[in-house]
Amino acid sequence: MDNKALEPDSVDIPMEETVVCSGGCLSLAQTQLQQEPSMWAHLNKVENQITDGQCFFHLPKRSAVDLEFIDVSYTIQEGLCWKKTGLKSLLQSLSGRFCSRELVGIMGPSGAGKTTLMNILAGYREKGTKGQILVNGKPRDRKTFRKMSCYIMQEDILLPHLTPREAMMVSANLKLDETLEVKKNLVDEILTALGLLDCAHTRTAALSGGQCKRLAIALELVNNPPVMFFDEPTSGLDSVSCYQVVSLMHSLALGGRTIICTIHQPSAKLFEMFDKLYILSQGQCIYKGSVPSLIPYMKTMGLCCPTYHNPADFIIEVASGEYGELNPVLFEAVQGGMCTLEHRRNLCAANSSMVGTMFLFYFISMICPIMYCSIVYWMTEQPPEASRYLLFIALSICTALVAQSLGLLVGAASTSLQVATFIGPVTAIPVLLFSGFFVNFNTIPNYLQWSSYVSYVRCVNLRNIHSHNYRWTDMKI
Ligand SMILES: Nc1ncnc2c1ncn2[C@@H]1O[C@H](COP(=O)(O)OP(=O)(O)O)[C@@H](O)[C@H]1O
Ligand SMILES: [Mg+2]
Repeated sequence: MDNKALEPDSVDIPMEETVVCSGGCLSLAQTQLQQEPSMWAHLNKVENQITDGQCFFHLPKRSAVDLEFIDVSYTIQEGLCWKKTGLKSLLQSLSGRFCSRELVGIMGPSGAGKTTLMNILAGYREKGTKGQILVNGKPRDRKTFRKMSCYIMQEDILLPHLTPREAMMVSANLKLDETLEVKKNLVDEILTALGLLDCAHTRTAALSGGQCKRLAIALELVNNPPVMFFDEPTSGLDSVSCYQVVSLMHSLALGGRTIICTIHQPSAKLFEMFDKLYILSQGQCIYKGSVPSLIPYMKTMGLCCPTYHNPADFIIEVASGEYGELNPVLFEAVQGGMCTLEHRRNLCAANSSMVGTMFLFYFISMICPIMYCSIVYWMTEQPPEASRYLLFIALSICTALVAQSLGLLVGAASTSLQVATFIGPVTAIPVLLFSGFFVNFNTIPNYLQWSSYVSYVRCVNLRNIHSHNYRWTDMKI
């Protein structure tokens, strides 16, 4: 295999680090490992932890691809060619951007237009399509794009009489222009990464559903396409196989590829593995964004996900109209850019509500000491001097503000409400204990006297006493 020129943003495979050996190529890391057997065990261990998508040394290097579509609509002619009954709109004004390193899930109820959208993005449907499709910011050239992408269909079409290794060799021979040794290495590498080595010599007809799906992916991985489309890859698979397939897609995305996949109703665990969601209903987009923002966004639209409910089920129910005919509202919101702005708006709203709450807190922290001191000062028959009275109030306000700030600090630094309710009193006790009310300064052991200086309550006590004309030396209370 030739050493190809380095490209920026390229898909994971470190071809630049390969050195040509007789009959094939080895990565520098592998060569060094062979020279230093003592390091083998340690590095071998690390290598095993590398995700599937990141450990292909022999795949050809490809550039990363961002796919963008703007205002895409799709209509078809209904009826027979000689008796057309009219136009049917399958997709309406869809826009979005799917970037490299992202696992994108196109979701929606059956018939929502998921497969249609993916066929259009993959370049399989053009007639009747309106709108722009951009690849890395430039208009898509369908022919070139087809070469840099692959499409794994819902039904795997595999040759039943070939074993996975034979099928892979056929695929490698058809797609790659390399020596036989390199192709064999590559096939081994992909089969290992996809967990197909154990069944490499089993006929495809005898493979399980999950193995068939992984073989279909393996066959497409041979020329390392930077964009991969999957149409309902988990349909018909058991939960373990579903998990294997989705985590494999996730690893492939981590390797620098753009993975776009339609999925009907994933479990909560699988749902969380997606980096981006594109949710369709009746050919319209009702949500585009990340998984964690979905539920807060729906809440802003007046739709609350019931507790302990799978968010994936919830959004499919919303899209199916179980919560009322909300699609036009949600569609309008997406068109108006609310989805993308939502996160930013939430942050802004959180900031402004935080500032408001702080003002309220500090206002209360000032009003309460004023009220308290105004009563206590006169009740205890303190000298009727304005300066002393004002100083007394000012010191009390300062104490309240410091206490308030410390409370906020504890709240912000704590990981949960329980932790905060524990840390708050625990930190407040020494402040009170060494404030002078309970223990005289001179009776505190030397090594603990520093804690008395840290107590802000004690500082206020001292100042108050000072304001009542006591001598500083008397103030070691
Ligand atoms: N060639 C076609 N002629 C008429 N209707 C079609 C055609 N292809 C798709 N449809 C309709 O378009 C809708 C979306 O189809 P599809 O994209 O396959 O849905 P999904 O993959 O979300 O289940 C469905 O209602 C389907 O019946
Ligand atoms: Mg479909």
